[in-house]
Amino acid sequence: MQKLEVFGASQLKGQIKISGSKNASLPILAATLLSNKKILLRNLPLVRDIETMKNLLESLGSKIKYKNKELIIDNTRQTKKFASYSLVKTMRAGILVLGPLLAKFGSAKVSLPGGCAIGTRPVDIHLKALARLGVKYKILEGYVHATAPIGLKGAKIKFPKISVGATENLIIAASFAKGITILSNCAIEPEIKDLVNFLNSMGCNIKWTAKRTIKIIGVKEVTETNYSVMFDRIEAGTYLIAGALTAGNLRIQNIIPSIIQTEIDTLRKIGAKIIIKKNEVQIIGNKKIKNLNIKTAPYPGFPTDLQAQLMVLLCKANKKSLIKEDIFENRFMHVAELNRMGAKISIKGNLATVEGSTNFASAELMATDLRASVSLILAALTAKGKSVINRIYHLDRGYENIEKKLKKVGAKIRRVN
Ligand code: UD1
Repeated sequence: MQKLEVFGASQLKGQIKISGSKNASLPILAATLLSNKKILLRNLPLVRDIETMKNLLESLGSKIKYKNKELIIDNTRQTKKFASYSLVKTMRAGILVLGPLLAKFGSAKVSLPGGCAIGTRPVDIHLKALARLGVKYKILEGYVHATAPIGLKGAKIKFPKISVGATENLIIAASFAKGITILSNCAIEPEIKDLVNFLNSMGCNIKWTAKRTIKIIGVKEVTETNYSVMFDRIEAGTYLIAGALTAGNLRIQNIIPSIIQTEIDTLRKIGAKIIIKKNEVQIIGNKKIKNLNIKTAPYPGFPTDLQAQLMVLLCKANKKSLIKEDIFENRFMHVAELNRMGAKISIKGNLATVEGSTNFASAELMATDLRASVSLILAALTAKGKSVINRIYHLDRGYENIEKKLKKVGAKIRRVN
């Protein structure tokens, strides 16, 4: 099994080009199932989750050519409606094929995504909302068996809780439903806006009518399209934190700075200097890091996907910080490993108390989920000596070329078997 070796302490300097967004690419790939025309997608990140979604689509009958981050998809002979456990289990986003399959065929059998290290992550909100569009479903032996006996019919649906995945599944399904669907209390993550832009680029009729409300007029057919996926804002945030943490000087490129305003404001609060340019943000880290109390929240709040990385930074702050995790109930898996490196973090429910002034010590470490893995790399970058991070397959699900990108800006990091 592959590991990463990190030799600290490093100060990162230089430029990092941000890849396409994993979390935008996955729903867009699922949404291609609606179409039986040619679709060209550009700027997909080269990460494992995209491979998994490609395999899932191929198992459903999609013909895919994938080279150099460009994917051409031909669904003219896509007829299968069964998404197997073996393909959905490793990636929760697999459930996103349910909406388009129902919209296209009126029935589908899709595996439940199963447990996940960061929480129970049910799909009840997806299913109850699809039921409002006329879907009948049963859960049997770990599979959702769903049918829409008279097709999908537009409805007014208010989500009981903000959910990124449920908003995406419903937007895709309603795009092909008969009549008008109004979805309210939607998630408004930039990746959802990217999905809407993609769907509209192939002739769907979707409009935001208020901050969290969207109106979808169902269409019967779509056209060919050619679409470039947005940048990965979590990858950008991770490298900005790396710059602040190592008192470095990094230029994070190929991004739209306004999309990550919350992250920029947060890093300014802890004392980093940030210069915003057109498609770039430069961060100049300060040796003194100020403490902060923060909670994770749906966009435009601080993202849960950057909580672990920010925690590493706050371990270095001058005083105690508090971090409240308000999205997932069990997203502090990284804490035990960070404490083994010398951090002083205690957890009570969904609140982490992070004592400052930590000098991380190098260690042999175990990655537990995607964002936890990267937080261990960040801590290791500041620790003198060699750290070894095991189980990096988690990392490979979502970070493209992380060692190459970090090496280019001065990190001493290598992958070993
Ligand atoms: C997406 C992101 C993930 C990010 C998360 C929150 C993708 C592929 N993944 O995950 O990286 O961390 O948004 O920003 O884009 N919930 C229910 N029932 C449901 C659905 C969700 O109770 O049917 C709960 C979840 O357990 C969680 C909360 O709602 O506590 C938010 O989850 P959701 O926004 O749906 O996250 P995902 O779409 O799974």
